Amino acid sequence: MSETLERWGSKRAFILAVTGAAVGLGNIWRFPYVAGENGGAAFLLIYVGFVLLLGIPVMMAEILIGRAGRRGPIQALGALAMDAGASANWRWLGIFGAFTVFCILSFYSVVSGWSIEFLVASVNGQFSGATAAEIGAGFDAFLASPGLLIFNHSLFLFMTMTVVAAGVSKGLERLNNLLMPLLYGLLLLLAGYAATTDGFSTALAWLFLPSFEALTPTVVLHAMGHAFFTLAVGACALMAYGAYMPEDQSLPKAAVAVAALDISVALLAGIAIFSVVFAQGMDPAEGPGLMFVTLPIAFAELPGGVVWLSVFFLLLLLATWTSAINLAEPMVVTLQGLGCRRSIATAIVALSVWLMGLLSAFSFSTLADFRPLFGRNVFELVSSIPPDVFLPLGGLMIAIFAAWVMPRTTAMQALGAGEGGYLLWRNVVRWVSIPLTFIVLLGGLL
Ligand code: PFF
Repeated sequence: MSETLERWGSKRAFILAVTGAAVGLGNIWRFPYVAGENGGAAFLLIYVGFVLLLGIPVMMAEILIGRAGRRGPIQALGALAMDAGASANWRWLGIFGAFTVFCILSFYSVVSGWSIEFLVASVNGQFSGATAAEIGAGFDAFLASPGLLIFNHSLFLFMTMTVVAAGVSKGLERLNNLLMPLLYGLLLLLAGYAATTDGFSTALAWLFLPSFEALTPTVVLHAMGHAFFTLAVGACALMAYGAYMPEDQSLPKAAVAVAALDISVALLAGIAIFSVVFAQGMDPAEGPGLMFVTLPIAFAELPGGVVWLSVFFLLLLLATWTSAINLAEPMVVTLQGLGCRRSIATAIVALSVWLMGLLSAFSFSTLADFRPLFGRNVFELVSSIPPDVFLPLGGLMIAIFAAWVMPRTTAMQALGAGEGGYLLWRNVVRWVSIPLTFIVLLGGLL
């Protein structure tokens, strides 16, 4: 396939697109419950450390490869490896990335579907006046209805794939430009509301005063996996976005801006969620149901709570939408590279992800006891192993490719930060990011 001619319309559009990819379930759903289960502030501290030492440098590596290759990830890796005189097997890294985004999008779409259901329920006032027991039982009953899960999964995937089919500037860029500022505004509003509740100071203390008793190698692995997941790094998905990057943009500046926005969204969402949870004296370590059970219960009792709850689910939906289009893009552009029209490529990806998502949707009912690996069912498998293991592993290989395999001139030009900036970045990746990812991955797995 020849080089892609598409470009993001502006530097701002690129930053918004990457932020749209980064900000999603990871910030609003996964961060609060994983932090809740892993000791709050201690987890936060380690995860921010990983974002700085691994997330940002590896994000630059990933985007840089896409920008230098100007093609879909698999084709870009193949072409750049050839240019560098390295093995064409580097293409497998792109294939592994495609497998990773495929797994992630399959459960992502199901969970995002929950936010559609809950948004509608909340707007319809179904939570007002409901007791905690009723809300808890309602969530369990919802999960046990595969028909409802599949309906919402299909709807979400349809929303996603329609945008992807419309293409980079008419689809992806337009949606991100519209939704990202709206999302941030809504979140600020919500955090402002949280500050007026009784739980605000407890939430701040819980999020920002670390205690390190709960810290184990597994927690550290979770924190690293989360750093990759939340920044959308390690699956070659940002590589696809890098291919459309404007010529004259500085990549380090963009990466730092995205990481700052991403962390701030997680913090604001955490403050909003835990303030409300603590205001009602509830348990922060509720697990994946945190947003969907604890929050409706907590909001149901606060004045004006139902309106704010609806805002929350809307926020979650918008955030996941822009991430899902990023998860789909590398698969679509790869098929395009094989000669498919974009519309056909989108349809093929949509159908296969939809089918795979069914396994997740049924994991809460019919297939609850189908546990093919490690005693986990399909939903548990695809929502833990790709984020915690595949992304760091993919990130490691991406970093090795960009910092060791790619010729200096090509990489330096694609980074867009001059020679000094390039050498600084390369040293950090070579001597900090790569060894650290390797050690944590190994330690966590053993
Ligand atoms: N960053 C997204 C989130 O936090 O929800 C998830 C994600 C998107 C992970 C794209 C990986 C990816 F390639």
